[in-house]
Amino acid sequence: ALYQATVSAPVNIACIKYWGKRDTKLILPTNSSLSVTLDQDHLRSTTTSRADPSFDKDRLWLNGKEESIEAGGRLATCISELKRLRAVVEAQNPTAPKLSTYSVHIASRNNFPTAAGLASSASGFAALVASLAALYELPANPSQLSVIARQGSGSACRSLFGGFVAWEMGSAPDGSDSLAVEVAPREHWPDIHALICVVSDDKKGTSSTSGMQRTVETSPLLQHRIAQVVPARMDSIKDAILRRDFPTFARITMQDSNQFHAVALDTEPPIFYLNDVSRAIIAIITEYNRAAGAIKAAYTYDAGPNAVIYAPKENIKEIVELLLRYFPQAQPFPDPFALHVDNQGSIPDGFNEKVAKPFPVASVKGFIHTRVGDGPRKLSAE
Ligand code: DP6
Repeated sequence: ALYQATVSAPVNIACIKYWGKRDTKLILPTNSSLSVTLDQDHLRSTTTSRADPSFDKDRLWLNGKEESIEAGGRLATCISELKRLRAVVEAQNPTAPKLSTYSVHIASRNNFPTAAGLASSASGFAALVASLAALYELPANPSQLSVIARQGSGSACRSLFGGFVAWEMGSAPDGSDSLAVEVAPREHWPDIHALICVVSDDKKGTSSTSGMQRTVETSPLLQHRIAQVVPARMDSIKDAILRRDFPTFARITMQDSNQFHAVALDTEPPIFYLNDVSRAIIAIITEYNRAAGAIKAAYTYDAGPNAVIYAPKENIKEIVELLLRYFPQAQPFPDPFALHVDNQGSIPDGFNEKVAKPFPVASVKGFIHTRVGDGPRKLSAE
């Protein structure tokens, strides 16, 4: 018999950034974090897992290419944790097939181009964990699965939920309370849209994993951030989400992106993820909000130069128009990335283009317009 399950999982982009581990093996963070899950209709990883007694070892294919599964590595840890939970199911139900003793074949694909410059580890590990959980018919809820996905890549734990998601750092040495929880589902605030500005598809210089470890070892600013800044921000942003208070949500998101990049700069030797175009976009959004006399958009950046702009959907059209003034060659990606918004608004009258000049004009490659989305979807199981 062949047993298989297919699941897709979403990308998430943090508003309060995870940066730093207190345990590098279990992937336990030095601070809690919070993200928005993006819509899988546009960006997703899709993973099929199969178990069969004839398979001689666990194997993995990423975008069609076989990758090795390093013994004791992150992938092997996720797979063995899920097999362990399957063995519990089998012990409780003697008629259940002994899938925990079979090897698995796992095939995963991202639907977004590598050129989009988005990290795929979050959606990838979330899809892997959710597909094995479906294959094994585990009675686990998304928070329990997030504990396993966390051990694949920290940010992956947040992709087990849709909507607005917190990763609570926890305090248990075994990591059992370091997990993702839903702050609010997509339906609570569906009008939050995201515009990903693809600045560059260059390979990033310093990986998140090694960069954050260096920050933990050398940055005094990180210690201040962990102890004095993030706890209050987590409370405030959750509250803003529950009240659908966009200006507060946006201000905290921008502050936290800025502090994350300050902490990167405070690392020895310093780490630069933003480039001139990233900084130009910060200036444009800042001037847009100033001229409007209200916070209408928030920027945030991960470990690379691409901007993610969060805004209520009615502002997206004018934001694209504004960015196209500076980056006229930028294109929306073709379907399904095309824009579908109407609005009656316009760029604020007092917007001063000179405030943000001179900028390079040749390096926003394109935009991906998406929105807050739902959690992993089971596509089939047998
Ligand atoms: C800047 O989750 O990629 O995107 O746990 O080592 O796999 P590992 O790191 P990873 O780090 C993500 C860092 C970030 C911020 C965030 O997503 O919260």
